[in-house]
Amino acid sequence: MKMPRKKEVEEHYNKVAHTYDQRDLTYAHVRAQLLRLLPLGENQVTLDVGCGTGKILLELGRNSRYAVGVDISSAMLRGAIRKIKEFPNIDLVRCDVECLPFRKAVFDRITCTEVIEHLEAPMSLLNEMARTLKPDGEVFLTTPNDLWFPLFYIADKTGIRVPEGLANHFSPWRMRRLIDDSDLRVRYSKGTMFFPAKAWKFMEILSEVLNKLRLQNLCLKQIIVLRRGF
Ligand SMILES: C[S@@+](CC[C@H](N)C(=O)[O-])C[C@H]1O[C@@H](n2cnc3c(N)ncnc32)[C@H](O)[C@@H]1O
Repeated sequence: MKMPRKKEVEEHYNKVAHTYDQRDLTYAHVRAQLLRLLPLGENQVTLDVGCGTGKILLELGRNSRYAVGVDISSAMLRGAIRKIKEFPNIDLVRCDVECLPFRKAVFDRITCTEVIEHLEAPMSLLNEMARTLKPDGEVFLTTPNDLWFPLFYIADKTGIRVPEGLANHFSPWRMRRLIDDSDLRVRYSKGTMFFPAKAWKFMEILSEVLNKLRLQNLCLKQIIVLRRGF
């Protein structure tokens, strides 16, 4: 019998968790870009959805009043436990992000990096983030651009990055349609290039040029800032 998709994703991340931090170069660049856009403050309550080994979560904890990270993979969460042990204002919860165990309108900022493409029901995640976001809160989401699927496939197969397991990448257009049908609205979006990682500075310049020319939909990753649509 075929394993349910959610279980397969969970087992995949349980398997790769022990090397995730050493091999997550491509994710690291996207996280760095996202953190530059993210306004944090010491009164804020923040959530990292699909927090993995806790790198963004740690930054949320350092720069906000309270941060919580949620993930389905216990092995990825163990990686996060090691990082946050000095931070009494950070908590971790193991759960499925399609059904968040929080009251409505509690978070000022929600981050969600490289997670939505792994879900069975991505719309449920978008609506759950809208439900738990404060009326003036913002979601910061990143996801790969489906146009570059062949490159991601080669990067996985050659071990350049941690294999991402079961995923359905979105084109920027499909992601827009999904968001338009959800309880969130796009406030800002940009594309980012980061490969080859050694040419990172050049890639940053290239990203800026592509965004200025309104060619962000050609970039490797999409960074999207969202607000509640109700
Ligand atoms: C590519 S990793 C990204 C981790 C982290 N956000 C980062 O940027 O390094 C994807 C993460 O999503 C988590 N994930 C996938 N599906 C999930 C689900 N349904 N509920 C909770 N977490 C999930 C995985 O366990 C994994 O930690």
